[in-house]
Amino acid sequence: MSLLEIMKSAKVIPVIAIDDPDHAVPLAQALVAGGIRVLEVTLRTAHGLGAIKAMAQVPGAIVGVGTLTQPEEFAAARDAGAVFGVSPGLTPALIEAQKKSGLALLPGTMTPSEIMLAREAGYKQLKLFPAVPAGGIGMLNAIAGPLPDVTFCPTGGISIETAPKFLACKNVACVGGSWLTPKEAMRTGNWEHITELARAAAALTAE
Ligand code: 3PG
Repeated sequence: MSLLEIMKSAKVIPVIAIDDPDHAVPLAQALVAGGIRVLEVTLRTAHGLGAIKAMAQVPGAIVGVGTLTQPEEFAAARDAGAVFGVSPGLTPALIEAQKKSGLALLPGTMTPSEIMLAREAGYKQLKLFPAVPAGGIGMLNAIAGPLPDVTFCPTGGISIETAPKFLACKNVACVGGSWLTPKEAMRTGNWEHITELARAAAALTAE
């Protein structure tokens, strides 16, 4: 599956931080049961790589790695089973590591120049991050004119209420957000609630 196909199949990509390694599999199962299959597991906690390994075994899950900020993380995440990666920004060292590892990357961009630099480096599927502080829907519509050949996954400040408006932008394939994995539901293992949130996200339509 190409990165664009993964994005188009997603609608919403949950941004996941695993505090307890025992949560990885039931969380992935709960999200997949609700129709959310593309999962971004961040390296913000010590359990990120282990969680990717465990979640990649869950039937139906398409697992990626998030918060890639160090070159050595690319090969480690690929070896753990990640099939795509997401970074908050892009640097020459990350570009080199990405190309060496072969792990598909959705790099974070925030300005027209960053988008153009990413495009020059060969990336046409981009994350707009942080999406709302970057200008949100107004920004996405404004850059669709001069830079029509890039597709975004805006992430940062998006909710179930605002997601439909983002999905309606012609240069948006999916959105990212942490609202599908609330801390309290994770802490208490309320997987039914997470499946309900996933169901609502999977049913979103562009508005
Ligand atoms: C993050 O920085 O955690 C992600 O961009 C998700 O942002 P959100 O919590 O605003 O959805």
